[in-house]
Amino acid sequence: MTNRPTNPIFNDNKLKLGTFCTNTIPNMTFVPEVRQPTWANTLACARLADDAGLEAIVPIARWKGYLDDKADHPSNVVFETFTWAAGLAAATQYSAVFATSHAPTMHPMLVAKESATIDAICGGRFALNIVGGWNRREFDMFGIDLMEHDQRYVYLEEWLHLLRRLWTSPTEFDYESRYFRMKKAISRPQPLQRGGVPVMNAALSPTGMRFSAKHSDIGLISPHGATPEEWRTDVENYKKMARQEFGREIQLWTNCSVVQRETQKAADEYLHRYSEEYLDNEVMDSLMRTISAENNIPMGSERLAFMRRRMATGAGHPLTGTAQSIAKELEEISRVGIDGVIMTWVDYVDGVERFIRDVLPLLEQAGLRKPFAKKSS
Ligand SMILES: Cc1cc2nc3c(=O)[nH]c(=O)nc-3n(C[C@H](O)[C@H](O)[C@H](O)COP(=O)(O)O)c2cc1C
Repeated sequence: MTNRPTNPIFNDNKLKLGTFCTNTIPNMTFVPEVRQPTWANTLACARLADDAGLEAIVPIARWKGYLDDKADHPSNVVFETFTWAAGLAAATQYSAVFATSHAPTMHPMLVAKESATIDAICGGRFALNIVGGWNRREFDMFGIDLMEHDQRYVYLEEWLHLLRRLWTSPTEFDYESRYFRMKKAISRPQPLQRGGVPVMNAALSPTGMRFSAKHSDIGLISPHGATPEEWRTDVENYKKMARQEFGREIQLWTNCSVVQRETQKAADEYLHRYSEEYLDNEVMDSLMRTISAENNIPMGSERLAFMRRRMATGAGHPLTGTAQSIAKELEEISRVGIDGVIMTWVDYVDGVERFIRDVLPLLEQAGLRKPFAKKSS
């Protein structure tokens, strides 16, 4: 799986790192200092990550937010991920730049060519996060039915099969099924990365994780449990499934929301400020109703309550504290078998700057990462 030496997601660092969701506002908060997703801001964050040798810059894919009849709600404001990735691909030198694709809203023909183009722009550093979709509001805008939960993965499997065929086929091919009809299909150029660009898939259900184990290079997970130690069994079982059922080694990455301050008290107070005091409860309630209805997670369940707490802090496991405590927790995350962490902040430019300055050296001292030598341009 390392026939793609140009892509840093396959480098030797034991714990890979990246930024997440800088194409939107990941937090459901009204704090005024939230970093707005302008091009200047997302570019500034990407350049910081790239200069510091972080492995990944990963967007979220969202065509529409979580509330109806509120055109100006911030959750509606999201840059389209392929054009965003193309811009960042041209402006960076080291990090892998990801796009995230809702399979049913984009034909494999289009994704094959867009991916190859972005891979050419960045010299083989492109990667693709594929998702089946779950927010019916987005699908309604396309006039597409949101499929029943497990059927989404049947569709996704066929979609990915076609995408990989377009990335690698030496000849034109015909294909016909319930979902696709293609005649003499071909996509040139093929990606610089031989065998096609790496694929990430974010899923939490057993069907979704099985799909990811079978097909992806990276499974992006948000494991259940307040401390990394509680994730250990799930992480081990996931990798074991990939190995035993499909003969594959996959990486598992997770997403974390970061609040780094000089003292634990200041970090806790800031977390409280944005995720409780200034929480956008209306959007949180709507989001939970949607997740419950579309992903078979009952209202009132402990699982949904856990997801709500996570979403309030910024979608992932919260890393809240000093540089030292955050580095220590990242060590624990690595120790339970997680290979990569992508991070969100309320202010992602300030956040990534602090992280690179104070946390990264500690991770190098701990042997989780090698010091990064930036290429001169
Ligand atoms: C960490 C993480 C990131 C995700 N990112 C996206 C995204 O960018 N866009 C999207 O539509 N869905 C995203 N999803 C949703 C999943 O792709 C999937 O639709 C959802 O988890 C429901 O499927 P499941 O029940 O198999 O987990 C994400 C899920 C997780 C856990």
